[in-house]
Amino acid sequence: MTPEEFQEKFGIIGESSAMKDVVTKVMQVAPTDVTVLISGESGSGKEVIARAIHGASNRSGKPVVAVNCGAIPEGILESELFGHQRGAFTGAVESRKGYFEIADGGTLFLDEIGDMPLSTQVKLLRVIETGEFMRVGSSNTQSSDVRVIAASNKLLEEEVAKGYFRQDLYFRLRSVNIYMPPLRERREDIPIFIEKFAREFSNRNRIEFGGFTHDAIEALSGLEWPGNVRELKNLVESVIVLERGKKVDSDSIVKYLPKNETLYMGEPTSRFLPVHVDKTPEESERELILRALWEIKNDIVDLKSIIGSGMVGGKLSLPVPHAYTGAESDNGGTRDGAELNLREVEKYLIKTAIEKFHGNKRMAADALGISMRSLYRKLQEYKLKDV
Ligand SMILES: Nc1ncnc2c1ncn2[C@@H]1O[C@H](COP(=O)(O)OP(=O)(O)O)[C@@H](O)[C@H]1O
Ligand SMILES: [Mg+2]
Repeated sequence: MTPEEFQEKFGIIGESSAMKDVVTKVMQVAPTDVTVLISGESGSGKEVIARAIHGASNRSGKPVVAVNCGAIPEGILESELFGHQRGAFTGAVESRKGYFEIADGGTLFLDEIGDMPLSTQVKLLRVIETGEFMRVGSSNTQSSDVRVIAASNKLLEEEVAKGYFRQDLYFRLRSVNIYMPPLRERREDIPIFIEKFAREFSNRNRIEFGGFTHDAIEALSGLEWPGNVRELKNLVESVIVLERGKKVDSDSIVKYLPKNETLYMGEPTSRFLPVHVDKTPEESERELILRALWEIKNDIVDLKSIIGSGMVGGKLSLPVPHAYTGAESDNGGTRDGAELNLREVEKYLIKTAIEKFHGNKRMAADALGISMRSLYRKLQEYKLKDV
């Protein structure tokens, strides 16, 4: 198999020399049983590589099990990995197989291994070296034939120096170390990613795709991409959904960029000045709307308790966030005033949602949790038809 065929088969995109080096190494190590450590920032493609290694090995007919060591609480990880005996701890009403048994004959992908507690690391080293382990609460040794591929976005050397990671395990894991460079260090791959992700996504969802202008591709190629390929992929997918068949230029790209990431047109050398962010535009918009909804909910709760406590008629000052108080709401102080404020809040939310989704009413309605029909009714009611 040529490297190109290999990439095609396992969906590994990229033609940069960095990516080619990775592919060469992957093709060399895949057919062996050697333990592999894949390092690199989050979203750089570590899992894609781990799955390719399994897929190209003679274990490919057996399961590949992925475990995120950072996401599983410390006390539970050990029983997840090695299984437990009935009665091993409160709640262990049944004996259960761990991932080392489930993945027998196959591959175990241990993601975020830098987050594994030291006590579990000891047991992991043992099973890697001898193939033997014990279920939690059992004194019987069991064996399994599992190839371990580990990944980390932390520098394990530093974790070792700080005493958080065992040196012997680190040495054992890094017998083969594959480093995934961040996307900003292989920018020449960005146009290729954009093209492939766009085609793939529009075909899969049957959405017409109008293509990107040269400027748009250049703009995207100049960004920092702290979330790496994952962030780029998310952006391309949002653009395709929301632009529906339009040709995407650098102006329309701007609204998909995370809030504090800005395109600077002008200076030929540093046209694009990227800033670090950790949210996709969709996420930030959703968050904004959810936050507003959460606030309105609190307002209603407050209002109910005020009404319930018989304070109606007195001087009420509602805790409506000042951003929501329009000119008309200034007559607060009575129950009517309060209702008026609520209408203001609703109006404000609808306006915000529609602006946030650039006039896309379907998405605004979804984010607000109301039907398209209610949205249109409210638009009419609030005379917001032109937003
Ligand atoms: N070289 C690549 N080719 C194709 N898709 C990729 C590549 N690198 C990353 N991706 C995609 O980007 C996303 C994040 O990749 P992933 O392997 O989960 O990153 P990591 O494990 O380093 O956080 C996934 O959707 C993955 O399919
Ligand atoms: Mg990952």
